[in-house]
Amino acid sequence: MVYQANPQRYEAMEYRRCGKSGLKLPAISLGLWHNFGDATLLETSRQLLRHAFDLGITHFDLANNYGPPPGSAESNFGRILREDFLPYRDELIISSKAGYTMWDGPYGDWGSRKYLVASLDQSLKRMGLEYVDIFYHHRPDPETPLEETMRALDHVVRQGKALYVGLSNYPAERAREALAILQDLGTPCLIHQPKYSMFERWVEEGLLDLLQAQGVGSIAFSPLAGGQLTDRYLNGIPADSRAASGSQFLKPDQLTDVKIDKVRQLNDIALKRGQKLSQMALAWVLRHEKVTSVLIGASKTAQLDDAVGMLKNRRFTQQECEAIDAILNSAN
Ligand SMILES: NC(=O)c1ccc[n+]([C@@H]2O[C@H](COP(=O)([O-])OP(=O)(O)OC[C@H]3O[C@@H](n4cnc5c(N)ncnc54)[C@H](OP(=O)(O)O)[C@@H]3O)[C@@H](O)[C@H]2O)c1
Repeated sequence: MVYQANPQRYEAMEYRRCGKSGLKLPAISLGLWHNFGDATLLETSRQLLRHAFDLGITHFDLANNYGPPPGSAESNFGRILREDFLPYRDELIISSKAGYTMWDGPYGDWGSRKYLVASLDQSLKRMGLEYVDIFYHHRPDPETPLEETMRALDHVVRQGKALYVGLSNYPAERAREALAILQDLGTPCLIHQPKYSMFERWVEEGLLDLLQAQGVGSIAFSPLAGGQLTDRYLNGIPADSRAASGSQFLKPDQLTDVKIDKVRQLNDIALKRGQKLSQMALAWVLRHEKVTSVLIGASKTAQLDDAVGMLKNRRFTQQECEAIDAILNSAN
């Protein structure tokens, strides 16, 4: 059936300005790291994308290596885009990245101009796009001069292959240097994409303040810690969950008794607030003005409904914040 987007799609979502740029992002964005590669039925991926857009989620985040196999998330997304979303291209913010291993040899990894420019060309071909809205350097490269990597980002913008550029996984000090170079080149950095959740709080030690001071937006990836900050694992490991999928990023042995006990305590607080733990975990990340958007993953459309449902209950009392901190800071 031809896809027709929900006419009410812009009513429930909040759109937040990305730093000091002209661009607004939805408070909730969808990442295609899992559930969009060739290992997932195309129809499942299609339903997720349609449902997300129907809920006002206008930002889809990809990378050259998303799959499995690497590249297949972009190819599958390209097909769904062509079949369903072409009339809506200008309502979408599509991002991609390069920085992790993508192809054999010395030119398919890290941060050289050679790699970044070639990789973006490949991504555009896979997705059938003329340009991406945001192109990221995916991780800092300790060996390539930062100037070279930032010049490559500036170059793809000048080529018209990306509208904006971003950094991902850069620690605060490296980010500060990169932001200064991009500013000098005349292509200010739009956004930083760090990992941030109740279980991973390093960005609170300088990065978020730096970004705010410099007018750069931020999008927090894995805000549910891959599903750990939900009620998914409270009674064992469900067969259809990420932890049961053989993922190297969420292994069953990470779900220790101590961790699940913390999750249970957090879940109790969420229930008292009248929401699910997944919703409280997202609201908690968005409690900072400094965070533009939370970048979630989903394997089921109901998970997208949960995420958007969070927007109705975003405030935390001082007491709730302290209780959450006490749980998070208790001994492991
Ligand atoms: N820049 C980087 O280096 C980097 C690295 C990693 C990720 N990312 C980006 O961040 C995106 C999100 O990462 P992520 O998938 O780890 O995010 P996440 O939101 O922390 O985890 C998503 C997973 O949690 C589970 N889940 C979601 N909603 C749920 C709910 N309401 N109830 C129960 N379980 C729920 C689902 O797993 P199940 O399969 O168990 O249902 C879902 O796939 C990626 O797609 C990618 O775009 C970027």
